[in-house]
Amino acid sequence: MRTQVIKPRIREILSRELPPDLLALLPKRWVKLGDILLLPLRPELEPYKYRIAEVYAKVLGVKTVLRKGHIYGETRKPDYEILYGNDTITVHVENGIKYKLDVAKIMFSPANVKERVRMAKVAKPNELVVDMFAGIGHLSLPIAVYGKARVIAIEKDPYTFKFLLENIQLNKVQDRMSAYNMDNRDFPGENIADRILMGYVVKTAEFIPKALSIAKDEAIIHYHNTVPEKLMPEEPFATFKKIAREHGYEAEKINELRIKRYAPGVWHVVVDIKVFKK
Ligand SMILES: C[S@@+](CC[C@H](N)C(=O)[O-])C[C@H]1O[C@@H](n2cnc3c(N)ncnc32)[C@H](O)[C@@H]1O
Repeated sequence: MRTQVIKPRIREILSRELPPDLLALLPKRWVKLGDILLLPLRPELEPYKYRIAEVYAKVLGVKTVLRKGHIYGETRKPDYEILYGNDTITVHVENGIKYKLDVAKIMFSPANVKERVRMAKVAKPNELVVDMFAGIGHLSLPIAVYGKARVIAIEKDPYTFKFLLENIQLNKVQDRMSAYNMDNRDFPGENIADRILMGYVVKTAEFIPKALSIAKDEAIIHYHNTVPEKLMPEEPFATFKKIAREHGYEAEKINELRIKRYAPGVWHVVVDIKVFKK
């Protein structure tokens, strides 16, 4: 993932075509996923958007340019406008992991990079890890590739699931990583996981009872959620602990990290939690 500073060449080409006040509004930073560019564009640049995208694409050597939108809904789908090119599928390489995805339809957050990299180091070989919200394998591919752990990845969206299956092959971890295209609430495994990934936001607490039923009597859960800053640091662990107790588990917070600002005054955080059956 590279967020870069504007190249003089882009400015030079567009200075011949744009009024000077608009030139100053050209995006100075962008995100490149594989050979696709995500470009934030100010509304003032609307009349020139296709030409601007074309120049960025040629100078930066990408096949497609998307205008950044928002991530929305239960399956966390991004909302992008295609400004240049038409192929939105790419293979993005991060930390030596190959992530194939459709950038226009599947979220891949630059701000979550630290967490994806951290996951490469948390698991031990032969642990059984269950990723309840696998996506394209954002968090669980690093575990299978570097941690050499066994991974079960669950993803409910059929389109995202296709990329998850491809990524397991691309990263050559099919001997230890398998995937299920289902709602994790229908996953039949009980008392099997040494470690559980709950990489989801907003409603993650609803899935705590299911996570506990998948967990072994003693397990680690990487619990993500979004939390208003004024409730931190008690939340989100306090709610997790309460629900765990109601289901016969004790919970101990091992570590907590802020991943990114999710909305004004709201953080996406991850808490590493040890659970024990009482
Ligand atoms: C926001 S993405 C996160 C991917 C990855 N865990 C991360 O943190 O980068 C969440 C994924 O969970 C999937 N999902 C949402 N609800 C689910 C459920 N009940 N069962 C299985 N997958 C679900 C969505 O389709 C989406 O691909």
